[in-house]
Amino acid sequence: MTHSPRSALLSALIVASAWWGTLRAQPQSPPPYRPMQLQGLDNVYAVAGRFFSGSVPQTDADFALLQKLGVKTLLSVDGAPPDVERAAKFGLRYVHVPFGYDGIPATNVLQLIRAAQTLPGPVYVHCHHGKHRGPAAVAVMCEGVAGWEPALAERWMKLAGTATNYTGLYRSAATFNAPSPEALARVSTNFPSRVAVAPLAGIMVHIDSRWDALKAAQKQEFPAPAAPNALQLQELFHEAHRTGAGTGRGETFESALHAADTLAAELTRQLDVLDAQRSAERITAATEALRAVGKSCSACHRNFRD
Ligand code: HEC
Repeated sequence: MTHSPRSALLSALIVASAWWGTLRAQPQSPPPYRPMQLQGLDNVYAVAGRFFSGSVPQTDADFALLQKLGVKTLLSVDGAPPDVERAAKFGLRYVHVPFGYDGIPATNVLQLIRAAQTLPGPVYVHCHHGKHRGPAAVAVMCEGVAGWEPALAERWMKLAGTATNYTGLYRSAATFNAPSPEALARVSTNFPSRVAVAPLAGIMVHIDSRWDALKAAQKQEFPAPAAPNALQLQELFHEAHRTGAGTGRGETFESALHAADTLAAELTRQLDVLDAQRSAERITAATEALRAVGKSCSACHRNFRD
């Protein structure tokens, strides 16, 4: 970027306010969104006149930028604990509604819509990179409060870069059913600013269900699409590592988690290749990658659990 931070901010503000106007007028038009160029924050979009979607703010400068953009509330759907104290320094309130890469649970959908209805806006919605879970949350919120149809929600997610392998996230937007006013009224508006990190055992239960699905797929030579389950598995290892779910178990444990993450990424890659074009060699390669992941499960359990 050759702009100074100030001129970048100024042009961002002008663009954002222009979008405010046009998008309010045409809530059902295809999103003409382009990412805003903001120093320090990635994948930032102004959406439907009341939300921003983007990556996690980390530094004072990031929070100051959001404050200057007029943001009033930060809504994190990431598993990692939000930096509530730093946000407060800039007069920003945090609301934490974490969910995984396998879709938005019904209770979280209710919370997101209730948040969109009641929290002071604009609301800056973020996950980690601002590409997958955050845009899915924004999609559901727009379906809930801005009259978006599922087709528009899907277009928005594609544009924001949500990988189509995250089938659960796309399903949440595609199968959206407007909750009744009564159901929404029952959701507490006393939103938590920081939800406790999921304990490792809870994450392992999800890891185990992806693993079972992958083993079953292997028995049938990985019917397409096989990659989504492997990607979920990888994200679960990754998130366990990032959120500190294994904290206290030491460095060898952290590197074992990292190794499992890398092996699951390799499995995802092999299955992507196989999904794209099937061949006996590719089935064999994917099977080997699956075995390598399985070995990492049992090795870690031997050292740290059993
Ligand atoms: C980096 C280490 C590590 C790796 C890799 C790992 N696990 Fe675990 N797993 C653990 C630990 C530690 C526990 C015990 C957690 C606890 O009880 O607090 C556990 C617990 C479990 C549990 C029991 C959960 C419960 O209900 O208490 C299952 C099931 C499980 N793992 C499945 C898997 C599978 C399947 C894989 C591979 C795809 C895997 N794990 C990979 C460390 C690991």
